[in-house]
Amino acid sequence: MKKIFLYGAPASGKTTLGRRLAAALGTRFVDLDDAIVARAGASIPEIFAARGEAAFRDLESSALAAVVGDDSGDMVVSLGGGTLLRDANRALCEKNGAVFCIDTPTAEELARRIGAAAGSRPLGDRAKERAAHYASFPSRVAAFFEAQDSLVVVGRGLAAALLEERAVVADATVAKLWQDRLGVEPLKTIPSGEEHKTPATVAALWHAFAARGLGRRDAVCALGGGVTGDLTGFAAATWMRGIPWINFPTTLLAMVDASTGGKTGCDLPEGKNLAGAFHFPRLVVVDADFLSTLPEELLAAGRAEMIKHEVIAGVRAGEGTARGAVPTAAEIAANLSVKVGIVREDPFERTGLRMKLNCGHTVGHAVEKLSGYTLAHGEAVAIGCVEEARIAAARSLAPADWPAELAARFAAAGLPTEIPPEIDRNRIDETMKGDKKRAGDVVAFALPCGWGDVRIENIDLGAETLFHSG
Ligand SMILES: NC(=O)c1ccc[n+]([C@@H]2O[C@H](COP(=O)([O-])OP(=O)(O)OC[C@H]3O[C@@H](n4cnc5c(N)ncnc54)[C@H](O)[C@@H]3O)[C@@H](O)[C@H]2O)c1
Ligand SMILES: [Zn+2]
Repeated sequence: MKKIFLYGAPASGKTTLGRRLAAALGTRFVDLDDAIVARAGASIPEIFAARGEAAFRDLESSALAAVVGDDSGDMVVSLGGGTLLRDANRALCEKNGAVFCIDTPTAEELARRIGAAAGSRPLGDRAKERAAHYASFPSRVAAFFEAQDSLVVVGRGLAAALLEERAVVADATVAKLWQDRLGVEPLKTIPSGEEHKTPATVAALWHAFAARGLGRRDAVCALGGGVTGDLTGFAAATWMRGIPWINFPTTLLAMVDASTGGKTGCDLPEGKNLAGAFHFPRLVVVDADFLSTLPEELLAAGRAEMIKHEVIAGVRAGEGTARGAVPTAAEIAANLSVKVGIVREDPFERTGLRMKLNCGHTVGHAVEKLSGYTLAHGEAVAIGCVEEARIAAARSLAPADWPAELAARFAAAGLPTEIPPEIDRNRIDETMKGDKKRAGDVVAFALPCGWGDVRIENIDLGAETLFHSG
């Protein structure tokens, strides 16, 4: 039986995450503190006051042994802030499941949370002394948050335990690189590449679900980049009119962009993403370890969307978006939370807020298409953002030096910023008019006008020309 033990400093969120994770996984949740209180017939402060810490630790160890010995089903267990200080407890948990340690928040945040929970947590102020102890657990949760109907957990070393014994749809390249390390035997492996993001692959997934006998209560897992997530989510949305799914994005682009937001689908010969559905995954597990096998050009593609999020939110990411760098789980979490915040406010694109995520994409998509898809999406987005910044500056919506500032930001991340000379500039306007977000010849742009300043502008391309050669 699988057990996930959540560990970390007092007030790091073990119980909150534990309850949510168990719900998303469809398993039982056990709070070790509750188990101790039930056994002792007294509250934890009472046990401390009446019997002292050593007696509390003995009670805690015996409660833990009882929980570990319970083999009635999978469960998520939230531990106490010092439960694994005893080596025997640590060994017991590591032998019988996986321990995820939640990163300690900043000292101020911790003080705020402990203050809020004053009285119930006698060990609160020891968190800092125990930093090395907490740091010794390899599987880590850097952050977690709600994104519409999804729980998003960001960290590293998380995927193996959460994928175990589940129905997994895996990208072929990812399966080859990670299957043995993760100990996963996929239900279905799909060939890598956008050219396989087709109705035929969706149908192949349905057949695999049928062969496995997947029912309404079974969750299917996607293990791969944006293509795998979109296809698996769409197959889950349409299998038996919708079964739950869990997304394990393995590219940076999928981690910061494609994995949340609920959009699923496949391409048609007539266009990309034409068939699709909104179907939010129950759980998104962003495990930064996957980035260790991702080639630099795919890291760069993800950085383009990260910088787009920086522009939207007006926050500058850390070193992780520099050329050649690999972002940390904390950097990914901070960046992803920009998209999550927007999707939370406007999940189904009704208020226009979500349109901001399209920043750089109106020109970007046109350039991507006109390159015959020789430009990667992220490269096209970088170029698109810079060109759209120029459009903004030309309309006096942005300072004159803004396009150059933004171009420098993308260049530092190893991304191109100029339309390649082989692309016919005369065809960009007409290609943008073909974009599915148009109304007549009026095209909606989400123009980057400065850090934290993206504006929706409707430009009538029947009345004015934005791009022309010479
Ligand atoms: N649903 C959404 O909201 C949304 C948003 C943005 C993009 N998308 C979609 O996402 C897709 C692009 O995503 P993508 O760039 O992840 O494409 P992808 O899934 O094709 O992955 C790109 C390549 O990376 C390989 N790969 C994946 N993980 C790897 C790893 N850890 N190590 C080594 N190689 C790895 C894959 O085999 C593939 O060849 C597009 O189809 C796009 O439409 C969806
Ligand atoms: Zn994009």
